[in-house]
Amino acid sequence: MPVKIIVGAQWGDEGKGKIVDHLSKNVDIVARYQGGANAGHTVVIGNNHYVLHLIPSGIFHPHVTCVIGNGVVIDPIALMDEIKQLTDLGIGIHGRLLISHNAHLIMPYHKLLDTIREQTSEKIGTTGRGIGPAYNDKFLRVGIRIADLLNREVFVQKLKRNIEEKNQILKKIYGSPELDVDKITTECEEFDKQIAEYITDASLYLNTAIKEGKQILAEGAQGALLDVDHGTYPFVTSSNPTSGGACTGLGIPPTSISSIIGVVKAYTTRVGNGPFPTEQTDEIGDRLRTIGGEYGATTGRPRRCGWLDAVSTRYSIMINGIQEIAITKLDVLDQFDYIKICTGYKFKGKFIKSFPTDASTLEAIEPVYETLKGWKESTSGITSYPALPKNVHHYIEAIEALLGTKVRMVSVGARRDQTILKD
Ligand code: GDP
Ligand code: IMO
Ligand code: MG
Repeated sequence: MPVKIIVGAQWGDEGKGKIVDHLSKNVDIVARYQGGANAGHTVVIGNNHYVLHLIPSGIFHPHVTCVIGNGVVIDPIALMDEIKQLTDLGIGIHGRLLISHNAHLIMPYHKLLDTIREQTSEKIGTTGRGIGPAYNDKFLRVGIRIADLLNREVFVQKLKRNIEEKNQILKKIYGSPELDVDKITTECEEFDKQIAEYITDASLYLNTAIKEGKQILAEGAQGALLDVDHGTYPFVTSSNPTSGGACTGLGIPPTSISSIIGVVKAYTTRVGNGPFPTEQTDEIGDRLRTIGGEYGATTGRPRRCGWLDAVSTRYSIMINGIQEIAITKLDVLDQFDYIKICTGYKFKGKFIKSFPTDASTLEAIEPVYETLKGWKESTSGITSYPALPKNVHHYIEAIEALLGTKVRMVSVGARRDQTILKD
C-alpha cells in the first residue's frame, strides 16, 4: 500500500514542511489534504528559506507531482501568489500541480468575516485567512468549489447569492461596508485563467496512482491538537488535520494507507489562544522562542513556547495511529542545562489518565514533569544517531518510552542535510 501520511502531532509548526521535503526524495506524489493558507510550511535548501501555504512541500523535487486535495480550502489570491513566487524562482509548476475540482474557494468575504468575528466574538487567535467561514459555507452547502469556476453562469449565480447574504450579515450584524459582486467576479476571472490547466479529478488521479503502485505522501497541515473534532475545541482550526482527514480530504480509501508518521517538535509551541499546559512564560519560554526562531511562518506572530508534553502527544499518537515519530528542532535544546518532559496531568490533586480536550479542564490541570540533564553541546553538525551525545540518547529513549512509539528521524537543523535517520 503506497500512501504514507505525515501529520503534525502537536499544535502545528512541528516542522512538517522539512520532513515532507526530506521524504519526497523517494515518492512520486505529495498531496495536501486539509487546511488552507493558514498553514506555513518551511523548506530550507542551502541558504534559501521557502514558505509554502497551499502548494505541497514536495514541490522542490522536480520528479514529484503535487496535489491539492478536495479537503483544502483555496484562497485564489494566495495560490496565484505562491505559483508566481515559485515560477519566479525557476521552479517548474506546469504539469506538476493538480488541484481537486471539489476543493472549496476562500472568497474575500470569508477573510473579512474571519477578521471581524475575531474582533467581536471570543478570540480564537485565528490566522485571519478566512478558514472558519469557508469551511462553514462548505458544511452549509453554499460554498463555491473550484469546479464552479469552469461554468461562469453557475459561478456568478452562486457568488451573487453568497455576497447578497454576506452583505446582510456584514451590514446588519457588524455594521461593516458591503462587498461588490462585480469586483470579486473580475478577480476570479483572472484566477480562473491561471489555474484552469491544473484543475482535475484529484481523487481519480490518486486512486489510479495507488493502483499503479506509485508512492504517495499525504501532507497534513496544522496539528492534531488543532483538529476541529479531536483538538482543544474551540481553540482549534476548522478542519481535520488528523490522519483520518487524509482519506476524506483526498478521496482515497483507508485501505490504501501504509503508514502514519507523526512530526513532533522536541519541545512544544502554540500560536493563538487556548490551553497549553506546558507553556513557559518565563525566560525558558523566551529562550526557546529566540533560539528556535519561533515566530509564525504565516502571520509572523510570536509562538508560545514550552516543554514537550507527553500526555497530549500520546493522545495525538492514539487518535492518529502514529507508527513512527520524526523529532524536529532537537538542536534548539543544545544549550539547556536541563530539559523537562511533562509525564502526567493532575486535576484537582489527582492524576488523570486521559487527555482532556475540553478547554476549561485543560486550563485547570497541573502538569507533572520529569527532568533530564541537558547535553550542552552542538548537535547541528552531527549526521549519525550513534554520534549524538549520550544525554540526547537518554532524551530520545525517554520520549519513546513515554509515547510508546519509535523515533525514526531526528532533525538537528532546518537544512536538508541536518536530518538523522535512526533504526
Ligand atoms: P510546519 O508548519 O510544521 O511545516 O513548520 P514551520 O515551517 O511553520 O516551522 C518550523 C520552523 O522550524 C521552520 O522555520 C523550519 O525551517 C524550522 N526547522 C525545521 N526543522 C528544524 C530543526 O531541526 N532545527 C531547527 N533549528 N529549525 C528547524
Ligand atoms: P501549520 O500547517 C500553527 C492556529 C491559529 C489559531 C487556530 C485557528 O503551519 O502547522 P485558523 O486560521 O486555522 O482558523 O486559526 O489555529 N493555526 C496554526 N497554528 N500552525 C498552523 O499551520 C496553523 N494554522 C492555524 O493560530 O490558533
Ligand atoms: Mg507552520
